[in-house]
Amino acid sequence: MKKIDVAVLGATGTVGQKFIVLLQNHPYFEVKELVASERSAGKPYAAACSWKQNIPIPRNVAGLTVKSTEEILNSRILFSGLDSSVAGSAEEKYASEGHLVISNSSNHRMDRHVPLVIPEVNPDHLELIYRQQYDGAIVTNPNCSTIFLVMAIAPLYREFGVEAVNVTTLQAISGAGYPGVPSLDILGNVVPYIGSEEEKVETEPLKILGALSGDHIEPVSIKISAQCTRVPVYDGHTETLSIKLKSRAGLADVRRVLENFSGLPQELKLPSAPERPILVRTEEDRPQPRFDRDHGHGMSITVGRIRPCNVLDFKFLILSHNTVRGAAGASILNAEYLKAEGYF
Ligand SMILES: NC(=O)c1ccc[n+]([C@@H]2O[C@H](COP(=O)([O-])OP(=O)(O)OC[C@H]3O[C@@H](n4cnc5c(N)ncnc54)[C@H](OP(=O)(O)O)[C@@H]3O)[C@@H](O)[C@H]2O)c1
Repeated sequence: MKKIDVAVLGATGTVGQKFIVLLQNHPYFEVKELVASERSAGKPYAAACSWKQNIPIPRNVAGLTVKSTEEILNSRILFSGLDSSVAGSAEEKYASEGHLVISNSSNHRMDRHVPLVIPEVNPDHLELIYRQQYDGAIVTNPNCSTIFLVMAIAPLYREFGVEAVNVTTLQAISGAGYPGVPSLDILGNVVPYIGSEEEKVETEPLKILGALSGDHIEPVSIKISAQCTRVPVYDGHTETLSIKLKSRAGLADVRRVLENFSGLPQELKLPSAPERPILVRTEEDRPQPRFDRDHGHGMSITVGRIRPCNVLDFKFLILSHNTVRGAAGASILNAEYLKAEGYF
């Protein structure tokens, strides 16, 4: 099969670099163009970027000249890890020019006609792209703290209904991009504030779990309260959460429903789809970022310590790789699903 040419926007950043790693030898896509800021434009990728991945820069991209957002792109599919200061206007421009922009940035996630998609949860929302006024389209994936929260509550929502969720995040440093949080602020410390993060975690799930209704999504009404913190972990976000269900359920039911969660990416055997989207651990000291972030090549999330809660119904911990399932891997899975279902 001839591979499809793609571009990576924000290619020099944390998410952009993860795209480069995950798209290396991808069966459908081949990276042909790279975009970053004026600081990087005109330079070979290897010179423009401060490479922080644990494999060498793939040879097919190391010598590509980085383009600015002003330059014309030839690739139909654009994976975006652009900084949010520029993603809003740049992604609109590219979509107007006919490109399909598959984005990690928050700018368009809550737009009426832009789907906010986790293919295991709400692939039907992709129909919204036909309501967009662009010649191309914009498709988004959730914030890195939202995506695995929704993956954990979606099966419970479907089976029992969910009334309320109280969640505290312990977010890895790589989630802040490069160079991110100064070392003197984060080493030996916990930072109890991440700008705009709590709003995202409290609102994005309502759209993702909502129902497609004509040209928009009718959000669900679940009360979500989030407290977001940054912790000195390199990769892998953890969340502790308590949940109130609408109907009665036992501990074994909750565990069974989470363990059995699966979706269309698994049925279609998409290249980035983990065999099991949710792994449930029974040890009392798991999940932990160092040991659990890489399951399913970073695309499985891990749930542990499921137990009754004295305030709501149940409490447990969840963990996910923030730059894979929480960012680049999520976008690539969206693209694989779009291709498998004939959207392009
Ligand atoms: N890190 C995560 O875990 C994560 C997870 C989910 C979503 N996100 C979202 O993904 C996006 C990228 O995050 P990141 O962590 O990869 O950030 P990052 O490491 O700071 O990278 C930002 C990228 O945007 C480029 N950029 C900055 N200003 C630009 C401009 N004016 N024009 C064109 N390109 C510009 C940078 O290019 P230069 O190198 O040339 O400056 C770099 O390639 C953000 O919107 C973020 O919210 C991140």
